[in-house]
Amino acid sequence: MTNQQTAARTPDRIGENSAENSAEKSTAVIEVNEVTTVLGRAVIHRNLSLSVLSGEVLAIIGGSGSGKTTLLRLMLGLQRPAAGTVSIFGHQLGNCEASDLAQVRNRWGVLFQQGALFSALTVFENIALPLRELKDIPKHLITELVLLKLGQVGLTPADAFKKPAELSGGMVKRVALARALILDPALLFLDEPTAGLDPASSKRFVRLIEDLRSEMSLTVVMVTHDVDTLFALADRVAALADRRLVAIGSLSQVAKQPQPFIQEFFLGHADECNEDYIQNYRSSLRQGPLAGATAANILEH
Ligand SMILES: Nc1ncnc2c1ncn2[C@@H]1O[C@H](COP(=O)(O)OP(=O)(O)O)[C@@H](O)[C@H]1O
Ligand SMILES: [Mg+2]
Repeated sequence: MTNQQTAARTPDRIGENSAENSAEKSTAVIEVNEVTTVLGRAVIHRNLSLSVLSGEVLAIIGGSGSGKTTLLRLMLGLQRPAAGTVSIFGHQLGNCEASDLAQVRNRWGVLFQQGALFSALTVFENIALPLRELKDIPKHLITELVLLKLGQVGLTPADAFKKPAELSGGMVKRVALARALILDPALLFLDEPTAGLDPASSKRFVRLIEDLRSEMSLTVVMVTHDVDTLFALADRVAALADRRLVAIGSLSQVAKQPQPFIQEFFLGHADECNEDYIQNYRSSLRQGPLAGATAANILEH
């Protein structure tokens, strides 16, 4: 059984601290344990706990300002909790050796909400950055790895010489994804991956993430407000509201919760939030006009 299947078969857990059994615990890649986060004078999360399981796509939903990006920042060690702990690959952030932390950092990639490419650098240089930071990688190998990653995200070698300003929105996302994946991470963080893309580019990008996820056996933590992106990718959904985790589980199970934010979020999608619809939606994406296309010819211009 693959990791992905393990995650998909994991039962729902609400208030999972108490419910977690040892088998599930052994597959947790990230554990957020009773975290309280304070920014300025505002409490952003209160006593929040959740796990990310190996091989799953966990989607985080919540209203604007509900602390989704801050939760990613906690998981990345960019933000420290006022109370509680965050562990990744068994290392507790803020409480492990610098060398351990450096190793852990090389096992994740991040696609921030604002593509975050350096505008003065070419596509090639942007993607190569994490490799250059490792210092001792020979030049020819950097070239080879960058070209390989470009191809994997559906871009061509000719794109390598372009500057970010010459790219479409979808291409910027692809370059940022290539950079996030250049060190072949086990874990990928995506903050609103389809925000700002038109529906067709958004669909192509989601399809690319799905392909790469299975090719690279990725565990994915994704913030999104886009219901179609959830339908296409999420194994489990975690909903934030009122500074708390108000639900976590499969999309169909979370969508049934009476909590006001959740009801509003899925408004108009009630008939779609069931396993049959989701499976059909996913296979239609796989068999759509993109089926059989190579990475290069699904490139948007
Ligand atoms: N550095 C900061 N200092 C104070 N408040 C912040 C800071 N960063 C974010 N916030 C506030 O924290 C809340 C959660 O922000 P964020 O995690 O970005 O929300 P989301 O991604 O769910 O929209 C928001 O109300 C935001 O204004
Ligand atoms: Mg955000």
